[in-house]
Amino acid sequence: MYARITGTGSYLPEKVLHNRDLEKIVDTSDKWIRERTGIIKRHIAAEGQTTRDLAVEAARRALQSAGRQPQDVDLIIVATTTPDKVFPSTACLVQQSLDIHGCPAFDVQAVCTGFVYALGVADKFIRSGSHRCALVIGAETISRILDWSDRSTCVLFGDGAGAVVLEPSEAPGILSTHLHADGKYEELLHVPGGVSRGYPAEEAGGAFVQMKGNEVFRIAVNTLGKIVDETLEENQLQKSDIDWLVPHQANIRIIAATAKKLNLDMNQVVVTVDEHGNTSAASIPLALDVAVREGRIKPGQTLIMEAFGGGFTWGSALLRL
Ligand code: UT7
Repeated sequence: MYARITGTGSYLPEKVLHNRDLEKIVDTSDKWIRERTGIIKRHIAAEGQTTRDLAVEAARRALQSAGRQPQDVDLIIVATTTPDKVFPSTACLVQQSLDIHGCPAFDVQAVCTGFVYALGVADKFIRSGSHRCALVIGAETISRILDWSDRSTCVLFGDGAGAVVLEPSEAPGILSTHLHADGKYEELLHVPGGVSRGYPAEEAGGAFVQMKGNEVFRIAVNTLGKIVDETLEENQLQKSDIDWLVPHQANIRIIAATAKKLNLDMNQVVVTVDEHGNTSAASIPLALDVAVREGRIKPGQTLIMEAFGGGFTWGSALLRL
């Protein structure tokens, strides 16, 4: 028994912020952002529009593409770093909006690796036979935890949501998931403040993303190269068996390095970082939905998803669509 993705959906907020708009806010340039990251624009949630709102829209679209009704859903997992409330979980809020009652609903927090973690968890629920229709969502309003005066972070991120429906199947779907973390890197990429620790007044920027970008970059490239090897080895596959790379969208240079490691041409890589920026846990399901709807990824093809993020956390999923 496998868990298979039977539907995909995504949602991007209406407001678009171009690099040129950022030139008016911080000391940056369109040229620097394009060359160092590949980002051209990103979407930003409207005032009052929350992670739940984005997640619900993506979920409705995924259910529609799977030919399922909300009432068919028996498991909801939301990967997010930017929940609406401390509690209830965003998954419970999504459940309420979709008028679903009684099924388990919970959030997973693994920052940019969140969707891969959520998919790994849902895969185990489905394969065990205990659940038959999972909604797995990555949704973020990262714009709310950015310091808009810090050019080293505010140009990198965007808001959005992506979702998949996962159902049991005798034909191969998810072939394996690989999840990792190492908390010793806590301070290279983090929001220093929090509910329990508080937001000390003297700790400037305590409520916002802080990143030592070039150190994160170096470790990300290295680690993603290794996770790709681990994924192929465990499945006894060759690089040439992979049709598509659907990577986390943090930086085009990181994506290109992983593609090179897999001997993949860039036209076998789904790239959305140019249009979406880094949407953290939402980036992989957003990219997947874009490529599926454009008819680029075809049923039966083999794809590898990979992500790296705060924690550090990292992971991959190998699957057949
Ligand atoms: O999704 C979770 C994981 N996150 C990532 O994987 C992100 C990993 N890191 C990166 O993608 C890249 O390191 C960045 C895009 C964040 C930065 O690129 P970089 O090539 O590593 O640049 P850098 O941090 O080494 O900075 C180079 C220069 C510095 O100036 P000096 O010291 O050389 O004079 C920065 O101050 O670029 C400067 N800089 C900027 N200049 C214009 C930093 N941010 C900006 C900016 N505009 N927005």
